[in-house]
Amino acid sequence: MIRSVLKGCGSYLPEKVITNDDLAKFVDTSDEWISTRTGIRQRYMAAEGELTSDLALHAAEGALSDAGLTPADIDLVIVGTTTPDRTLPATAAILQDRLGMSHGAAFDVQAVCSGFIYGLAVADNFLKAGQHRNALVIGAETLTRILDWEDRNTSVLFGDGAGAVVLCAEESAGAKTDRGILSTYLRCDGRLNKLITSDGGVSETRSTGYIRMEGREVFRNAVTNIAEAIEVALSDADLSIADVDWFVPHQANIRILNATAKRLGIPEEKVVVTIAQHGNTSSASVPLAFDAAVKDGRIKKGDLVLFEAMGGGLTWGSALVRL
Ligand code: UT7
Repeated sequence: MIRSVLKGCGSYLPEKVITNDDLAKFVDTSDEWISTRTGIRQRYMAAEGELTSDLALHAAEGALSDAGLTPADIDLVIVGTTTPDRTLPATAAILQDRLGMSHGAAFDVQAVCSGFIYGLAVADNFLKAGQHRNALVIGAETLTRILDWEDRNTSVLFGDGAGAVVLCAEESAGAKTDRGILSTYLRCDGRLNKLITSDGGVSETRSTGYIRMEGREVFRNAVTNIAEAIEVALSDADLSIADVDWFVPHQANIRILNATAKRLGIPEEKVVVTIAQHGNTSSASVPLAFDAAVKDGRIKKGDLVLFEAMGGGLTWGSALVRL
């Protein structure tokens, strides 16, 4: 059988840091409220003129170099993003050009905060089907561009960044101990599409609109959906919580991470948490957290890693990977 083996990762954060105290100067909020209710202490903000494709390019170059590959080796580029450079073309096409590529396929996946997991699952299936050999999967966002700074329900939560991985199709005996993506699971319940939305869009208002969220309702769904995503990814691979070395969740709220860990009996020391530094970077959050834990030496080759996310749609999903 063919397995999609994760060969490299990279990430990028813009230079500018905005602390909770910085925000409190122009939003009716406080460091105390933000840090106790969400776990966020700061977030990064892209510079004027610094685009989603710029963040994606840095992350992609890091992942390629980590994998020991060049753009010539890649034949599939997938960008998970809710904040594309332009309405069209896909940011993946712009990125492909920036990488000096004109071969293979490139497209964006729009699944809001689940965008990276959706992109990973799509790439995995293309690789397993034999249609592509080497994929670059990226989550990249400039969410601060669609924040209404006066809306404290959202403006204190989100930040900018990008993370990327390289997946390579490799022949595998298919054992649980063999490298590669062991299972993926994707879900959407479109009935809940208004819980995280924008108050405008191309077709509706000929503009982008700002992010709006019914936070409490999203929170109510989050723990159940994330727990389901983790359980299904594990049962599909015939593995259990105890087999997982690292959980790399979407970083939306520390209280969601803690409640999920408690519900499933996940030891907190196995959960990668970057929310304090990054805030919620939507589709970039999982690959950013993953890259941070690989680079600081926590996550190592051979480890079993579980990625999960939930976001607008509502979408949610998971991917189980042996490194
Ligand atoms: O990434 C996609 C997935 N997203 C998520 O998973 C987000 C899920 N939701 C959450 O993380 C939380 O619901 C929030 C962090 C968004 C909000 O936390 P909460 O504990 O659910 O607060 P709340 O919305 O119930 O608001 C509690 C109080 C309200 O005041 P009253 O009505 O009790 O007087 C709000 O007006 O906190 C107030 N509040 C704030 N106060 C200071 C809301 N936002 C702020 C703020 N600063 N930024």
